[in-house]
Amino acid sequence: MTILAKKGELSSSVCDLLVISAFAGEQKEVLLSDAFDASLSEYLLQVIKDDHFEAKEGSTLLIRMDGRISAKRLLVVGLGKMEEVSAHILRKAFAQVQHACAGMQIKSVNVSMVGLEVAEVDLDESVQAIVEGFRLSGYTYGRYKKEEKKKTTETVEFTFSDAKLAKKAQSVIELAELVCSATVSARDLVNTPALHLAPKDMVDAAKAMVKEKGPISIKVYDEPKLKKMGAGGILGINQGSDHEPFMVHLTYKPAKKAKKVIALVGKAVTFDSGGLSLKPSDSMMGMKIDMGGAAAVLGVFSVLAKLQPNVEVHGIFGAVENMPSGKAIRPGDIVKAINGKTIEILNTDAEGRVTLADTLSYACTLKPDMVIDLATLTGACMVALGEEITGLMSNNPELAQRMLTSAKQAGEEMWELPLYKGYRQLILSDVADVKNIGGRYGGALTAGLFLQEFVTKDMPWIHMDIAGPAYAERPFNAYEQKGATGHPVRTLIHFLRSY
Ligand code: BES
Ligand code: ZN
Ligand code: MG
Repeated sequence: MTILAKKGELSSSVCDLLVISAFAGEQKEVLLSDAFDASLSEYLLQVIKDDHFEAKEGSTLLIRMDGRISAKRLLVVGLGKMEEVSAHILRKAFAQVQHACAGMQIKSVNVSMVGLEVAEVDLDESVQAIVEGFRLSGYTYGRYKKEEKKKTTETVEFTFSDAKLAKKAQSVIELAELVCSATVSARDLVNTPALHLAPKDMVDAAKAMVKEKGPISIKVYDEPKLKKMGAGGILGINQGSDHEPFMVHLTYKPAKKAKKVIALVGKAVTFDSGGLSLKPSDSMMGMKIDMGGAAAVLGVFSVLAKLQPNVEVHGIFGAVENMPSGKAIRPGDIVKAINGKTIEILNTDAEGRVTLADTLSYACTLKPDMVIDLATLTGACMVALGEEITGLMSNNPELAQRMLTSAKQAGEEMWELPLYKGYRQLILSDVADVKNIGGRYGGALTAGLFLQEFVTKDMPWIHMDIAGPAYAERPFNAYEQKGATGHPVRTLIHFLRSY
């Protein structure tokens, strides 16, 4: 599918489907007369009236054109009230358009921007949201499923009334394509079963980001190297697995001097059985997704060379598999992380934080301007915020605000949870510096406080618990169907580009 922007006349655009936006209330009449000649707009208004189409958000009306214009069909998309239209509404609406196109096996779509030019929306934001709606809703994970080949949409063309606007839109389309491609990369990794995504496969996925003479380089730490570094958390959690653990460090350097140096640290547990603190079958079912944090980091890295943000980015993850066996780590065992702190492991199912103890410590040794970790960390975060919302915690309110703004702009839900010092006593151990569980209540918060123990004191740091949003057990919306979502790739890209 190619997506492009052009200046053009609506009535002469040759395509299978012409999409025009309509707003609830009076405005829809005005828009139609702007777009078409008097007799056609009169006809369309009559159809709209007969079919009781009110242009409410989420509504659509399909009209066959029978030679009245060059387009075969017209799809009127309701966007609700003009003054309330947003990027999020557009993303959803055009995801729905994509599903409709797929159903009708439409090859060429023309999207009229007339309505959006008139409505006072940010056109860049709108174009990006529409592209995201199309691309992300069309995603399927096809690696293992033979599906009959259907005709899919080949071209999507945005038609503007103004050539300058069209030209500007073209560059927004290119950006949106990168955002979607990064999201899709993350989705593919998360959807891949652990059978075919062991720690070594995560390393290979990371190596694929590195092109000769490109701006991205990689360091891979194997088991002997991890032992030398004192990565007791990664080694301890992986002990029960037949696979070798690895730590990966990717670096992207911009061509010009970097405005900031940012470390992205992802949780990469390729399968979380719980270890000896074995999960019940139902909870274990979805645990191939437990590398969702690292998948988001890899998704971002997959487009950095083209995106060329003005920041230096370090992508770090410790890839392990959490399995029970005669060699597995036991409740009561104590391990030492790279920063020298000791951890009493009381529940082997709270493994993500133990591996992050090492990767966060390592990230801090690079002395970046900030460290951001992403982890499918706790079921407790899902109890607190539900499935769709990421829990964000930070030691730096300004930075947290900046990330929350990016999330809002990117259309991903994120809420801040408190890094409440008073609960720190809950993770203090009798026999080690910290223990890896904090009791029955506030599990997302004690997990965050645990991670903070491995971040140097004045390092600006954000923790994102993506246990819920990384994977949609049920469809979240028209562009995030059941399966991996790619959260929070869109937010991260927006954040990196904000410098
Ligand atoms: N991988 C899980 C968290 C998770 C749960 C992610 C559901 C996605 C969906 C994590 O390793 C875990 O098992 N956490 C435990 C911690 C507890 C033992 C303190 C949990 O949340 O139950
Ligand atoms: Zn676990
Ligand atoms: Mg989920």
